[in-house]
Amino acid sequence: MNYIASANRYKEMTYRRCGNSGLKLSAVSLGLWHNFGHVDQLENSRNIIRLAFDSGITHFDLANNYGPPPGSAEENFGRILKQDFQSYRDELIISSKAGYTMWDGPYGDWGSKKYLVSSLDQSLKRMGLDYVDIFYHHRPDPETPLEETMAALDLIVRQGKALYAGISNYAAPEAAKAIAILKDLGTPCLIHQPKYSMFERWVENGLLDLLGKEGVGCIPFSPLAQGLLTDKYLHGVPADSRAAKSHGALQENQITEKVLQQLNALNAIAVERGQTLAQMALSWVLRHETVTSVLVGASRPDQLADSIKCLDRLLFTTEELQDIEQILKK
Ligand SMILES: NC(=O)c1ccc[n+]([C@@H]2O[C@H](COP(=O)([O-])OP(=O)(O)OC[C@H]3O[C@@H](n4cnc5c(N)ncnc54)[C@H](OP(=O)(O)O)[C@@H]3O)[C@@H](O)[C@H]2O)c1
Repeated sequence: MNYIASANRYKEMTYRRCGNSGLKLSAVSLGLWHNFGHVDQLENSRNIIRLAFDSGITHFDLANNYGPPPGSAEENFGRILKQDFQSYRDELIISSKAGYTMWDGPYGDWGSKKYLVSSLDQSLKRMGLDYVDIFYHHRPDPETPLEETMAALDLIVRQGKALYAGISNYAAPEAAKAIAILKDLGTPCLIHQPKYSMFERWVENGLLDLLGKEGVGCIPFSPLAQGLLTDKYLHGVPADSRAAKSHGALQENQITEKVLQQLNALNAIAVERGQTLAQMALSWVLRHETVTSVLVGASRPDQLADSIKCLDRLLFTTEELQDIEQILKK
């Protein structure tokens, strides 16, 4: 069936400015790391993307290696774009990345100019796009000079293959250097994509402050700790969960007795707040002004619909925050 986007799509979503840039992102963004590869059902992937756009999500996050197999999430996204979203391209912010292993040999990994430029060309072909909106260096490279990697991002933006440049998984000191180099080159760093959730707090030790000071946006990934911070695992490991899938990045042994106790205690606070645990975990990340958007995944449309409702209750009392800290410290 032909897709026509909901006329109400911009009514409920909030849009936040990305650092000091001119770009606003939907407060919830959709990531295509899992559930969009050739191992998944294309129709389900398509329904998730349709629901996202109908709900006001404008930002879709990809990378060269998403699948499995690597590259297949971009191929499937390209297919869905062609079928459903051709007339909506100017309402979409599409990102891709390179930095992890993608092809054999010395030019298919890390941070050389050769890798980044070739990889983005491949991503554009897979998605059937002339340009992406944001192109990221996916992880720091200990060997390539940072100047070369940042010059590659600058080149890509000047060539018009990406509108904005971003970095991901950079610790605060290396992020500071990358931001300074990009500023000198005249292509400001738009955004940083770090892992951040109630269970993963490293960004609180300097990175969030740096991004706030430099006017760079922040889009935390895996804010639900890959599904742990939901009601999914409270009563065991469901067969259709990421932890149960052979290609899922969440391991069953991460769901320890201690984690289960924490999840149950957090769930009780969420219920008192009138939220699901997923919604509370997302509101908790979004409470920082520096955070532009939370980057969620979903294996079904109803999960995404649930997650988006985090926007209904973003504020926390001091007492709630303290109670959450107590649980996480245990
Ligand atoms: N830059 C990087 O290095 C990097 C690394 C990882 C991810 N990312 C980006 O971040 C995005 C999100 O990562 P993620 O998928 O790990 O995020 P996440 O939001 O922490 O976890 C998503 C998973 O949680 C479960 N879920 C989601 N909403 C739910 C709800 N309302 N109720 C119950 N369960 C729910 C689903 O798991 P089930 O499949 O079990 O149903 C879903 O697949 C990725 O797609 C990617 O774009 C970036």
